[in-house]
Amino acid sequence: MRPTTSLSLSLLSTLLLLPISTLAAFTGEAEADGVKFDFTQLKTHSVVVEHKQDPSVLKSTYTINPAGKIELNKDDKEDQCPDGTQVCMISRLWHGEKPDEHAAQIISFGNVESPKDSEPEYTIMRDEEKKVLGLNITFHGPEYGDKKLKQNAIVKFLCDQEMTGLEEPDKDGKGTNALKFVDYEGDQTLTLEWRTKYACEKPLGEAPAPSQGSWGFFTWFIVIVFLVVAAYLIFGSWLNYNKYDARGWDLLPHSDTLRDLPYLIKDFLRRAVNTFQGSGGRGGYSAI
Ligand SMILES: *[C@@H]1O[C@H](CO)[C@@H](O)[C@H](O)[C@H]1NC(C)=O
Repeated sequence: MRPTTSLSLSLLSTLLLLPISTLAAFTGEAEADGVKFDFTQLKTHSVVVEHKQDPSVLKSTYTINPAGKIELNKDDKEDQCPDGTQVCMISRLWHGEKPDEHAAQIISFGNVESPKDSEPEYTIMRDEEKKVLGLNITFHGPEYGDKKLKQNAIVKFLCDQEMTGLEEPDKDGKGTNALKFVDYEGDQTLTLEWRTKYACEKPLGEAPAPSQGSWGFFTWFIVIVFLVVAAYLIFGSWLNYNKYDARGWDLLPHSDTLRDLPYLIKDFLRRAVNTFQGSGGRGGYSAI
């Protein structure tokens, strides 16, 4: 027995581990310190930052998709992050009103299709009173540049009940962007802040956590039916035992009907089959 048990145990653990390793990439849902976060309502979002580099301006676009990889741009195949990237930084030099034809810098962080860079780290952020401030996610990226600096992007999802997280400035640059660039330290650690109600422990106007909702009406219905049937059987048996001195199968209420049940079902099925064959098949009577 022993080898079989350990074999099935290892099989079981393999089965249990498998989904974890394949679902490691951040797809909008995360759990940290027992708190569940759901960012699946958020969409790919960008923020543009300008750095003066006289006589030109370096415009960097930081793009993040919280639910998976950034969709590839079919019109600009050269100037984009590799397929699978979750956080992408593209910098382009502008001379007056004229941008360079190609990007000066393309750096990717987190890749849902790379086993090495697909696994982000989650840290919950709390204040001194343990109130949830948000979720800190670190995306790992490949090495970049001459110095082969290992790239990391820290995205701080900050709780803000007033913001959905989809806010962006209009064409004239008016309005606040829910996504903010904080810094790009040492040419290797990018920090972004994303204000959204989905980073709160309980987002306003959201249904209660699914763990509570999963005990839906149907589950309760089944449980109640089961309890009623059980109570009926127990009470009936007790009654038969005391009142009629019944034993064995006779204890069960309606024991006669129960005993006949298999025959009743068989009979019902035979009738059903006959009816079906009779109407669909030859259209006449069939011998039983
Ligand atoms: C976020 O996580 C990184 C490491 O993954 C850590 O260095 C940083 O201090 C964290 N920031 C906050 C605000 O918790």
